[in-house]
Amino acid sequence: MASEGSTAAATGAEREPPTDGAGGPMLRVKDVHKRFGGIKAVDGATFDVAEGSITALIGPNGAGKTTLFNVLTGFYPGDHGSVMLEGRQIFRNPPHRIARLGMVRTFQITKALAAMPVIDNMMLAAQDQPGEKLRNVVFRPAASRRREKEVHERALELLDTVNLHRLADSYAGTLSGGQRKLLEFARALMTEPSFLMLDEPMAGVNPTLGARLLDLIQRLRRERGMTVLFVEHDMEVVMGHSDRVVVMAEGRVIAEGSPDAVRKDQKVIDAYLGGGAATGAEA
Ligand SMILES: Nc1ncnc2c1ncn2[C@@H]1O[C@H](COP(=O)(O)OP(=O)(O)O)[C@@H](O)[C@H]1O
Ligand SMILES: [Mg+2]
Repeated sequence: MASEGSTAAATGAEREPPTDGAGGPMLRVKDVHKRFGGIKAVDGATFDVAEGSITALIGPNGAGKTTLFNVLTGFYPGDHGSVMLEGRQIFRNPPHRIARLGMVRTFQITKALAAMPVIDNMMLAAQDQPGEKLRNVVFRPAASRRREKEVHERALELLDTVNLHRLADSYAGTLSGGQRKLLEFARALMTEPSFLMLDEPMAGVNPTLGARLLDLIQRLRRERGMTVLFVEHDMEVVMGHSDRVVVMAEGRVIAEGSPDAVRKDQKVIDAYLGGGAATGAEA
């Protein structure tokens, strides 16, 4: 069912030792604040993400990780602060503009999309790409058809990677929670982002597929220089798959550094114990 080359795309067999990201900062987050009424959900968060790195964002339940993701990607307007993506100020920009600059978070599978086959969900995600213009259809039908074929092949390849190819023609609404998570991930990749943000990508996904996702993330970083920021509770995953770890607690960044350094940091240990999240509870 899957197109040619899908096997190669599916498994990033070998894994290179993590580097600390060769480039300069791709993302600079400075003193970002977001409150909900009296709750300071994000209370002056500051950190950088190096280009080509895989950075984990961790912290106890309620630390503000998801809110920060929403502010960075424009889904919530921040109260104040600065967010520079490749030298460009994107703070309080609308989500579609930020997505066009290549910074993409996993999409929600909305009700409308649930009533659509999986393959159509994938094709639709590609339309959010900067190059996709209606005039192609009108003036350059041959090129447009070629492009559509490419997009279709890419969609099948990605569905194969996340093991959803057999469900390509099923309605997205019939997928399990874990499968929807995988579809969100595959849809995000359809836009070929340069900066991918994942909020608990492994939650509800079976371990075998989870490992496959991690391999794919490593491979996209290695081969395309994609930068990744992900929220994850499983410390094994964080320690084994990230170059850098940023730790949040009570809306602030309390530590950042290599996985090893962060693990030994007393402030981090205290935050987890104090937050009652030492068990790695779901956020
Ligand atoms: N939409 C919202 N309205 C009101 N409070 C919110 C909202 N989203 C998050 N919060 C609050 O902000 C704080 C941080 O939450 P969140 O960003 O979800 O943390 P995390 O993802 O680290 O678990 C929590 O106290 C949470 O209750
Ligand atoms: Mg969260």
